[in-house]
Amino acid sequence: MTQPAQTQPADQNRIRIFDTTLRDGEQSPGVALNHAQKLEIAHSLARMGVDVIEAGFPIASAGDLEGVSRIAREVRGPIIAGLARANKADIEAAAKAVEAAEKPRIHTFIATSPIHMAKKLQLEPDAVVERAVQAVKMARSFVDDVEFSAEDATRSETAFLIRIFQAAVEAGATTINIPDTVGYTTPEEIRALFSEIRAALPAHVILSSHCHDDLGMAVANSIAAAEGGARQIECTINGIGERAGNASLEEIVMAFHTRRDHYGFETGIRTRELYRASRLVSRLSGMPVQPNKAIVGDNAFAHESGIHQDGVIKARETYEIMNAELVGREAAVLVMGKHSGRAAFRKALHDLGYEDLPDDKVQYLFGRFKDLADRKGQIYSDDLRALVESRADVPQTFTLEGFQITSGMNMTPVAFVRLQTPDGAVDATSHGDGPVDAAYGAISKITGLNPELETYRIQAVTKGDDALGEVSITARYGEKLLSGTGVATDIVEASARAWVRVMNMIVAGMGSERREGEFAPGRI
Ligand code: KIV
Ligand code: ZN
Repeated sequence: MTQPAQTQPADQNRIRIFDTTLRDGEQSPGVALNHAQKLEIAHSLARMGVDVIEAGFPIASAGDLEGVSRIAREVRGPIIAGLARANKADIEAAAKAVEAAEKPRIHTFIATSPIHMAKKLQLEPDAVVERAVQAVKMARSFVDDVEFSAEDATRSETAFLIRIFQAAVEAGATTINIPDTVGYTTPEEIRALFSEIRAALPAHVILSSHCHDDLGMAVANSIAAAEGGARQIECTINGIGERAGNASLEEIVMAFHTRRDHYGFETGIRTRELYRASRLVSRLSGMPVQPNKAIVGDNAFAHESGIHQDGVIKARETYEIMNAELVGREAAVLVMGKHSGRAAFRKALHDLGYEDLPDDKVQYLFGRFKDLADRKGQIYSDDLRALVESRADVPQTFTLEGFQITSGMNMTPVAFVRLQTPDGAVDATSHGDGPVDAAYGAISKITGLNPELETYRIQAVTKGDDALGEVSITARYGEKLLSGTGVATDIVEASARAWVRVMNMIVAGMGSERREGEFAPGRI
């Protein structure tokens, strides 16, 4: 058997999981989460047992500040962190946003690489150290828990990193983060960098890694950082984030879990929550998970070849190094049929972990379940999950009552749509480039709202020709970016539901106001 890579006292082996899905993950191009969606993800992260939730970048907009405050007010368990550049306005905004948290943290950062200091900040290294010290001191005047990051650390001079980190610790930083901002480092390099910095800082300071995936090494680099002394790892669900993304939370957690014989590290994550969180983030962000993605991809536990299937039937361990249940992926279980009643429906939701849904939501979902059961007959666990996660968390000014599409080769598609509106049922007809475009045109005629569709994605929820189709879209309406999802057995219906949801979000004043990239940390 392989020997543990490190032998350390018990609590020395504990890796804190710092989730930045709601901050770095939300910086993925095209992703715009509203407050309710952010809160739902934050609750899911808390249920999973992450140690820290980086809830956003409060200075980015009034909406971002409010989003972080809501999470700080309502989510209990994890530390709630707000990001701030090393300046007064950012730190004050972060402090205000996290003030109601049970365990608040301010995470402040400044770039330390020669290229960032010279070209972006246009500051001499001494001035950068001074700014870092002032920022940490100011953050400490608001909270006891302050994290300091040296942006682009892996392209910085190690001696300068040690100097700025020692100064930040002296000023009161309790966690020091060493980000691989541009995804440039290698496992060997980052392990050595962490070891050197570990030796230069007092033992009470927690070292943190934050790796990006530009060369596909974010997870490997995060694990190597832990071998070098990191005891906090910053990562995101499904690895979403700037450019190629961040290190993927589920891969890191399962690598430590499955190979604890080798690494000897522990996390506090309830692994059975991983799949549910992955699906939630994929659905709300509109970013599908690639089928061959480790842990949470559709194919991650599928055995296609006859030899493999035969082996797995005889003994699962022949081709499986972890079992699907461990990450919350029980087989597609038949849960209900069209004769199932309300009590059975509630129980099925409960068994899937949705214990805390309010009565009006259960009522709404039961109606949708009945419609679906009429069409599909048998409802599987994944169908129910899709229904729950696409549920109406937006005030329903408009609801889809019905539609009819005429479409075919060499003809212009025409859609007839009926919506229930505050003025009663209203119909409209529209032409389009395709059936979905025609349906969108008709819906827009009824609502009088015409946002611009930016992205459109479709994926099947379960297998088979009666599978639910799930459509995720993003649309721009003036300054606002909105995302909507819809599920139905009919893909035009799923598409129409997603568009109606976007209409309802516009009416409710929802959507992200941040213009793409304007306040991304890299653009100070
Ligand atoms: O990648 C990065 O450097 C960051 C910092 C703000 C921590 O996201
Ligand atoms: Zn980052």
